Amino acid sequence: MCLIPDIVKTPLNYTGNKSRLLDQILPLFPKKINRFVDLCCGGASVGLNVLNRSKEVVCLDVNKNVIELLQTLQMFSEESIVAKVEQIIKDFNLSDTFNNGYDVYKKYVEGNNGFKNYNKIGYEKLRNYFNSTVMDLNTRAIYLLVLLSYCFNNDIRFNSSGKFNMPIGKTDFNASIRDKLHSFKIGTKNKNIKFYFSDFSVIKEFELSKNDFVYCDPPYLITNAVYNLANSKNNNPWTEEQEKALLKTLEYLHKNNVKFALSNVLSKENMENKILIDWIKLHDFKIVDIDYHYRSSSYHKKNRQAKEREVLILNYDI
Ligand SMILES: C[S@@+](CC[C@H](N)C(=O)[O-])C[C@H]1O[C@@H](n2cnc3c(N)ncnc32)[C@H](O)[C@@H]1O
Repeated sequence: MCLIPDIVKTPLNYTGNKSRLLDQILPLFPKKINRFVDLCCGGASVGLNVLNRSKEVVCLDVNKNVIELLQTLQMFSEESIVAKVEQIIKDFNLSDTFNNGYDVYKKYVEGNNGFKNYNKIGYEKLRNYFNSTVMDLNTRAIYLLVLLSYCFNNDIRFNSSGKFNMPIGKTDFNASIRDKLHSFKIGTKNKNIKFYFSDFSVIKEFELSKNDFVYCDPPYLITNAVYNLANSKNNNPWTEEQEKALLKTLEYLHKNNVKFALSNVLSKENMENKILIDWIKLHDFKIVDIDYHYRSSSYHKKNRQAKEREVLILNYDI
């Protein structure tokens, strides 16, 4: 649980998101920031929570689907997003516990499968429709929001042909997801925040200076989230070359007097990120240990036993 009051929530349940670590990370950031860049923003849980101390927030990610979803959620009113989502729920005969209550669906619930049995057919029809229909960018994003609300672990994953391929999960567009959407809409209202589809290397073109600040939470080389892996399901695997290129980019920022903070994992069980450890030895950066146990939800119980050294690497004095 994050102890910071009034946290702005993201509607995306992103693997490796920093929501549970915000109370450890945010106090280490500068108090006043001109331009804040969340370089590998994912669900933007960090960028969304520096709006109160930054003149401008820019969130970048190489995942086009994620960025288009965030842009769409920013552009439309909460009422119109919810109305569109509810229409899709009706069209595909999916459960709607928020409006209809739990009892209507109770007889379909088996063990801890939630609404899986009730939604299976509708969800698969919806996923096929989404994967085979040409839609404008914003309509597509709303369909994706519905898929994410009903899919396994609310995770986002596309195969190499760009098809959404998550299986059915046990949740629906429930009070918790609506609450996150509401928080996102309230938190970004009249705020200077932009979401861009781009590789991290574009940062060199931003002409940042000493009052700007870059936060970077890249895929971790020694963990295996869906966005890390070089396999048939991922067009942008995180490789040693990407890691080295990112570290060079951070060196460039440092030389230009731009402050940065890099989240990463130095070691996990019997693995070490040697590239990063060697890089740290060459520089006089500050290493702050992060208590990653906060991050573990009940779903990730086994993380609690795993030995892992999660850190925040800073190129400035706190
Ligand atoms: C650990 S996740 C970020 C999670 C995020 N901090 C949050 O709280 O939701 C890493 C992100 O890096 C993105 N990424 C991978 N390669 C990238 C690249 N070359 N440039 C920018 N972003 C990249 C992935 O798409 C993924 O969203």
